[in-house]
Amino acid sequence: MDIEYVRSRFIKHFDGTTGSVYASPGRINLIGEHTDYNGGFVFPGAVDKGMIAEIKPNGKDKVRAYSIDLKDYVEFGLNEEDAPKASWARYIFGVCREMIKRGVEVKGFDTAFAGDVPLGAGMSSSAALESTYAFALNDLFGENKIDKFELAKVGQATEHNYCGVNCGIMDQFASVFGKEGSLIRLDCRSLEYQYFPFKPDGYRLVLVDSVVKHELASSAYNKRRQSCEAAVAAIQKKHPHVEFLRDCTMDMLQEAKADISEEDYMRAEYVIEEIQRVLDVCDALEQGDYETVGQKMFETHHGMSKLYEVSCEELDFLNDVAFDCGVTGSRVMGGGFGGCTINLVKNELYETFITTAKERFKAKFGRSPKVYDVVIGDGSRKLL
Ligand code: GLA
Repeated sequence: MDIEYVRSRFIKHFDGTTGSVYASPGRINLIGEHTDYNGGFVFPGAVDKGMIAEIKPNGKDKVRAYSIDLKDYVEFGLNEEDAPKASWARYIFGVCREMIKRGVEVKGFDTAFAGDVPLGAGMSSSAALESTYAFALNDLFGENKIDKFELAKVGQATEHNYCGVNCGIMDQFASVFGKEGSLIRLDCRSLEYQYFPFKPDGYRLVLVDSVVKHELASSAYNKRRQSCEAAVAAIQKKHPHVEFLRDCTMDMLQEAKADISEEDYMRAEYVIEEIQRVLDVCDALEQGDYETVGQKMFETHHGMSKLYEVSCEELDFLNDVAFDCGVTGSRVMGGGFGGCTINLVKNELYETFITTAKERFKAKFGRSPKVYDVVIGDGSRKLL
């Protein structure tokens, strides 16, 4: 990410002066997919790619925002009825509104931003954008009174209320709380979290991007969430204390089978198994047992593909290639419907795997996948 580049665009676009500069990262997730909104565990980490924004209060009641990457300029007011049309600007507008709802006196500002986290690749470019502005507005207008968890919730509420995605807390949490070299296990029910230094000896994490753009807002994501809620509602008839799938066992699910559609049943089955897999992976990591970590990643892929049905032909293909190459663990990462696989690869297999994946993918789909080495970086911060 290039601060000077963002600054030069900001100066060119506005009145020649400079403001403050903030950054927030995208994220990876080792394991624990679609578990966050089910009160389960996730295991993400921030990456070294994200968004950078320069921001300066402008003394007006208007936000003037420039997307450097899209070369698009939008102005909007700060009242509920002022929502801009451009989807990228709705993220910034949503964050302003959610900060205002939390008592921050957000005033007009000029801003330009750019990012190097690939869009729609399952690395949470939108959370990076939300966290950047939540962190910045807290600093510029809120005397940093809003705590970090609430900043993550500002991003999540922006998705819910202004972007139509009923997401969980994982992406925004990872973006705000990220720490160089560490993954973070988050319990999405209690919000307790723990940093796990992640420097696997002899292995690397690499993302292979199918470059199939996912469309979370296209309602498939929200539909998965509804399936989980429907399963919970059926289980609650016998077990009223149950709040999330996190509180359910496979026996409880089985017991309620007659009241659950076949599709919702499969979704719930995946989630209950996946929540357990995160715990198993944490135990395995503590033992330095990367073979088990990898095996669980393959199991997750299988579940996401066959039970949760959020994979696609390209991602299943990349997963098969990884398996054929003897990669330790591989699976679709993030919400799914496109984007990347995350792969845990032995150092000595890395080159062969990447070359084979590129060749075979190109032969089958006529284009090359992209490859990103994972570097686990810091969360939201002020740069200048
Ligand atoms: C998206 C959502 C997250 C989470 C993942 C799947 O990234 O924003 O809240 O549900 O999908 O694990």
